[in-house]
Amino acid sequence: MKLIVNADVQKNPISRYIYGHFSEHLGRCIYGGVFVGEDSEIPNVHGIRTDIVEALKKIKVPVLRWPGGCFADDYHWQDGIGPKESRPTMVNKNWGGVTEDNSFGTHEFLEFCDMIGAEPYINGNVGSGTVREMRDWVEYMTFDGVSPMADLRRKNGREEPWKIPFFGIGNEAWGCGGNMRPEYYADEFRKFNTYLYNYGDNKVFRIASGASDNDYNWTRTLMERIGQRMDGLAVHHYSVAGPWEDKGAALDETEERWFKTMKSSWWMDELVSRHSAIMDEYDPEKKVALVVDEWGNWFNVEEGTNPGFLYQQNTIRDAVVAGMILNIFNQHSDRVRIANIAQMVNVLQSVILTEGDQMILTPTYHVFDMYKDHQDAMLLDSSEIDVPSYSWNGMEVPAVTSSASKAEDGSILITFSNVDPHEAHSVTIDLRGDSYQTAEETIITADTNNACNTFEAPDTVQANACGCCAIENGKIELDLPARSVVSLKIR
Ligand code: AHR
Repeated sequence: MKLIVNADVQKNPISRYIYGHFSEHLGRCIYGGVFVGEDSEIPNVHGIRTDIVEALKKIKVPVLRWPGGCFADDYHWQDGIGPKESRPTMVNKNWGGVTEDNSFGTHEFLEFCDMIGAEPYINGNVGSGTVREMRDWVEYMTFDGVSPMADLRRKNGREEPWKIPFFGIGNEAWGCGGNMRPEYYADEFRKFNTYLYNYGDNKVFRIASGASDNDYNWTRTLMERIGQRMDGLAVHHYSVAGPWEDKGAALDETEERWFKTMKSSWWMDELVSRHSAIMDEYDPEKKVALVVDEWGNWFNVEEGTNPGFLYQQNTIRDAVVAGMILNIFNQHSDRVRIANIAQMVNVLQSVILTEGDQMILTPTYHVFDMYKDHQDAMLLDSSEIDVPSYSWNGMEVPAVTSSASKAEDGSILITFSNVDPHEAHSVTIDLRGDSYQTAEETIITADTNNACNTFEAPDTVQANACGCCAIENGKIELDLPARSVVSLKIR
């Protein structure tokens, strides 16, 4: 395969928010994963695990979505503020029916965001909440003056308002967020949005609950009826290796599950293209962002774990999927400007898994680390020629995806994902438009389809720096091992 990169043709910025994460009150994501409470023996600051914070700082999490997901439309924020001993409990009906003690609420979430350097994306409750409740939440968090909500915030120990850049008006309104029709939800959005005030210089970026997969009618209806009252329109797509009733195990090593995962992941390219094309009809200037605020691999829960906790291991299969999907987002970054992998810790395609006081970084974590310099860089014009296919049982997907960007310091990052579990593929990179001296290569790969990091062997699947590749007359010859993600930092 050949990749032509025009280093002097910059297309558009790759929003750093494409590299966002999602943390829901689901299973052990918040409780146990992020938050252990101040009395825990696990090292923490105000109950927030220090090991998690350090690991997340390294990958530069730009934005974090919370408190759900489905949980968001059953969450009443006032239950999660004030003295912990007086916070009411609730039953988390969506996720395992466990009792939620509300010890992690608005203050704790926003402190966690501060600690890891992420900007908050709060998802409001439309399904079971009221307009007043949502209005009050924004006033509580962002109003600087004297008001009942700002005073309550001060009483609870926070003098200064926070900045809340992103706010979701409901989640999956077609399903767990209220089972609405798009026409009805569009009106609900307009109503809730009316009272979602900007205070001071806090300007809220308003995100509408979007389509599931290929529900293009949802996107069209919202573009028609909400239009530019919203700043972002969501879409959710999970990669599944079979029907919902049997998605296969995360550690399944069969080619059938591997291929189906890749097929479902590659569908993301068509989904963002087609949702974007509809948005283009109503918004040719691309003012409204496409927000893929839930994506990732969804397998059967790990045997012996609570079925409502969505705990799954993470393997090289997850790494190549992350590599492919982040390349797709980069290539569509004129419209896709926010994305959030589901979910940050211990749930679905996590970047971190914990067990008591232990923590492991998953193969997906390493891909986010390898791709982090794409954040806020300029997407470069590039063309892939003679892309090899990966086929199984008469179906095929492109084996290799790529994206290239130029950072402010002039360095270029090119990332590749090779989803072919059998063949290495060679690439000739033709760098045009400028001259470069060095190209540092990093590779993550493994010998088996289900290679993963465990608490006993946490470093089995790592990203390895492989030294420099030669650049001769602007050309670089590169080998992408079977099932690998490769990055090249070119200076
Ligand atoms: O991420 C798990 C769940 O998937 C979210 O709560 C929901 O929005 C989606 O269906």
